[in-house]
Amino acid sequence: MDNFTFQNATKILFGKDQEQAVGQETSHYGKKVLLHYGGGSIKKSGLYDRIKNSLAEAKLEVVELGGVKPNPLVSLVREGVDLCKEHNVDVILAVGGGSVIDSAKAIAAGAYYEGDVWDFFTGKTTATQTLPIGVVLTIPAAGSETSSGTVVTNEDGQYKRSFGHDSLRPKFAILNPELTYTLPAYQTACGITDMSAHIFERYFTNTKKVDLTDRLCEATLRTIVSQGKKVLEHPEDYDARAEILWAGTIAHNDSLGVGREGDWGSHDIEHEVSGIYDIAHGAGLAIIFPAWMKYVYEHDVARFAQFANRVWDVEIDTRDLKATAEEGIARVEAFFASIGMPTRLSHVDIDETHFEEMAAKATERGPLGSFVKLHKEDVLAIYKLAK
Ligand code: NZQ
Ligand code: ZN
Repeated sequence: MDNFTFQNATKILFGKDQEQAVGQETSHYGKKVLLHYGGGSIKKSGLYDRIKNSLAEAKLEVVELGGVKPNPLVSLVREGVDLCKEHNVDVILAVGGGSVIDSAKAIAAGAYYEGDVWDFFTGKTTATQTLPIGVVLTIPAAGSETSSGTVVTNEDGQYKRSFGHDSLRPKFAILNPELTYTLPAYQTACGITDMSAHIFERYFTNTKKVDLTDRLCEATLRTIVSQGKKVLEHPEDYDARAEILWAGTIAHNDSLGVGREGDWGSHDIEHEVSGIYDIAHGAGLAIIFPAWMKYVYEHDVARFAQFANRVWDVEIDTRDLKATAEEGIARVEAFFASIGMPTRLSHVDIDETHFEEMAAKATERGPLGSFVKLHKEDVLAIYKLAK
């Protein structure tokens, strides 16, 4: 196990009716709040009204910015930064999923910066002072409710890029499983895929002797698989929704990745796809991850065989570990297909046109991943495997 520092300071309020506390929680960080949300699901569900009431009860002044799109855009972030500067906003409240939270994080960084907010994503500058953020989560998926990262797309060149800073971790996150009942099956499945992928990125490591985190990863994945099927069959099963909601946070709050090197190549490979084609990140991962696994598994067949056995109940064939490993990868792909995810680029009408460009953009800052280092030719091969 490698040395590590672990600190995840996000306060979690989990369970029924917890959003009633949003005004009080937000008021710890100031008087003026930027209420940030997406394309309208929170208005349809009635959540928006409950949030506004709670903020009013806490005597908070509200500035609003809705309209965050999945794969959030830097143009709306710039609007948010201007609003924060103009109104001297003290705190940002993100109500929605990863896209809304990531947009809020980028605004939080830009609010104290004189230059263009995209500079954070190109590495030209880094965060020093940021606005505090609170979250009411409506989709278990990206894990942004406790992560330090944000992923934003620049329409100019279709660059989907991430940047992280510890100060961007939300101060609090409200997680009520009932708020996820209205999620369409496809979005639920995209979330299940994304949280699984966050564990895969940590599980496939070159760090040795990390048995506890291996077992925690395997247990979380097994829960996601069994409870994921349940929520798709019974969208209003509170207990199953609660398991999936908490799994999404656990998958990405860093506790499963401590003491070991993560990979993250597949995420970078996927971001080029959703950056150009604007598909859901989870759907992109359902396509890219099985292809990545097929490309790299021979690097550590024993680890892939362990994964197949402990997560997918594949019997270990000691004379042919490769067969065990390959069966595990086939089970991953079959699981994603069973929950309605595309598993090939052709399933979402993506052909080879931009493969070269995506592989070049993905690797322009250097090779990807760490389990196996991937150069442009490798990334291109993975896109071809995912055809
Ligand atoms: O915009 P609205 O109308 O709210 O609809 C959203 C959106 O269309 C809808 N939705 C959310 N909650 C709902 C609901 N519909 C009905 N009922 C509800 N309760 O779902 C759609 C998708 O929302 P989005 O926020 O885009 O989903 P997700 O949480 O999957 O976020 C995806 C983004 O997060 C990034 C991804 O790249 C992608 O841009 N990621 C962020 C990470 C981070 N910051 O740590 C890590 C991840 O790996 C990921 O890259
Ligand atoms: Zn992800």
